Amino acid sequence: MAAPETATKPVTVPDFLSARSRQQRLVVVTAYDYTAARLCESAGVDCILVGDSLGMVVQGHPTSLPVTLEEMIYHTQCVARGSQRALIVADLPFMSYQVSPEQAVVSAGRLIKEGRAHAVKLEGGQRMAQTIAAIVRADIPVMGHVGLTPQSVNRLGGFRVQRDSEAILADALAVEAAGAFAIVLECIPAALAEQITRSVQVPTIGIGAGAQCDGQVLVYHDLLGMFSDLRPRFVKQYADVGQVIREAIRQYADEVRAGIFPGREHEFR
Ligand code: KIV
Repeated sequence: MAAPETATKPVTVPDFLSARSRQQRLVVVTAYDYTAARLCESAGVDCILVGDSLGMVVQGHPTSLPVTLEEMIYHTQCVARGSQRALIVADLPFMSYQVSPEQAVVSAGRLIKEGRAHAVKLEGGQRMAQTIAAIVRADIPVMGHVGLTPQSVNRLGGFRVQRDSEAILADALAVEAAGAFAIVLECIPAALAEQITRSVQVPTIGIGAGAQCDGQVLVYHDLLGMFSDLRPRFVKQYADVGQVIREAIRQYADEVRAGIFPGREHEFR
């Protein structure tokens, strides 16, 4: 979808659904603010996910569980201001949709109306099917998320590869049947991700799920080398931006201390 002739046409949910037939791999990156969204846009990504991973990489929590709906709306607004073309998907945070399908519809509606997202993502398979169907009935596109679901960290006992093939396949099928337009497959064996991708019609977006998914997603801070608290094996770091930032700030500090900055060219006369 990053072909030059379509570079300015907004990416839509139908574009996602037809990506496989056009043999186009979908590129998804998380972003949480205006500047990051601008950079993702200019790099031509298809979809920006305002992930609740912001709880870890922006807020400094050990999990995504403390993130609130208000915070998700705020970060989605920031991303929406920096984005023209990419499909914006916003995560429903923990406890903003688990109580009832009605609660989920209200929360999803706020991410669309106030956050200006185009779609929402929620975690869970068979047990979330009714909830997904309710949100879709309200005309809000839903991206599913099965396999390792970080909001279930306390039940799962940690962030681990999920290997219960039968249950995960059943989850993916249930999410598709409920009306999701795409499914994130997180941290599952590559062969299982391939089997799921062959079994569903909607695109699969992998993270730690091998190369046979219809698209891939990475967390912005991970792919840029800006977050070192956690380094999952599935992350490929494409740059060491953390080191560049550290060096630049160190140089600034040195120059301030040495009286080099500001120079005459930075003064008003
Ligand atoms: O919150 C997030 O960033 C996510 C992706 C890692 C898929 O859910």
